[in-house]
Amino acid sequence: MILKDRVAIVTGAGSGIGRAGALIMAREGAHVIVADIDSANAEETASQIAKAGGTAESLVVDVMDDQALDAGIAKIAARHGRIDILHNHAGSQVAGNLEEVAVSGFDTSWNLNVRAHFMASRFVMPVMKKAGKGVILNTSSSSGVLYDREMIAYTTSKHAVIAMTRQMAGDYARFGIRVNALCPGWVDTPFNAPFIAQMGGRSAIEGYIAEKVPLGRWADVSEIAEPILFLVSDRSSYMTGQILVVDGGETVV
Ligand SMILES: NC(=O)c1ccc[n+]([C@@H]2O[C@H](COP(=O)([O-])OP(=O)(O)OC[C@H]3O[C@@H](n4cnc5c(N)ncnc54)[C@H](O)[C@@H]3O)[C@@H](O)[C@H]2O)c1
Repeated sequence: MILKDRVAIVTGAGSGIGRAGALIMAREGAHVIVADIDSANAEETASQIAKAGGTAESLVVDVMDDQALDAGIAKIAARHGRIDILHNHAGSQVAGNLEEVAVSGFDTSWNLNVRAHFMASRFVMPVMKKAGKGVILNTSSSSGVLYDREMIAYTTSKHAVIAMTRQMAGDYARFGIRVNALCPGWVDTPFNAPFIAQMGGRSAIEGYIAEKVPLGRWADVSEIAEPILFLVSDRSSYMTGQILVVDGGETVV
């Protein structure tokens, strides 16, 4: 087990990629804090981990609420005396080009996709610095390295996550803290439900993905969990400030 005795916080772990990442970290011995705004989903992830023989606890929190996030992280640090891994994953997608996107949607994208990663990292940093080690993984997206049609709020936030990751990595490497970014492409989770509806259903989106992605299909969450495990474990011990794009070749063409 490559994460034995480590304490990991995963935001947005109540569903999709975050849940798959939480499950694989627990499988490898980490105690996982399943941080999510949705308490039923957070409990479900924690119970799946327990059923598989791992240990977890849920932390019901809106990561955009600075005080609640600070208090939640402080409680974890006090209870466990360590935080080894922070995976900043919760995020949302707001559609629209410059003129169409709701300004409030742009603000939410920024606050959830960028600012919440910034705040959570800031709250865990003293604990990691004191330990002289730690790993932060920020979820960006293939939209962090690509133009994405009429998605100005999303792409702006996801590009910013990469800039912030590189900056944090440079500033904190001397404290033994590594910071990398994950850029998934199309992954089959509830996250894409609004886009599926917009496209006119499941077969329409699958046709679209088959055309856009060289591997011709979505990723299953398990195919993103393995790269997550690589990035949060010592398997990537000499890697910091990097982005790992896992997109079936979408960015190649
Ligand atoms: N699924 C994809 O195709 C895909 C592709 C690229 C990047 N991503 C990124 O992955 C992340 C989520 O994707 P997913 O597929 O796992 O989504 P998902 O919808 O399956 O899960 C998102 C989780 O985040 C939680 N959440 C939302 N707002 C929150 C908040 N304010 N505080 C705490 N928790 C909150 C939700 O309750 C949910 O459990 C996002 O950052 C997204 O940009 C997803």
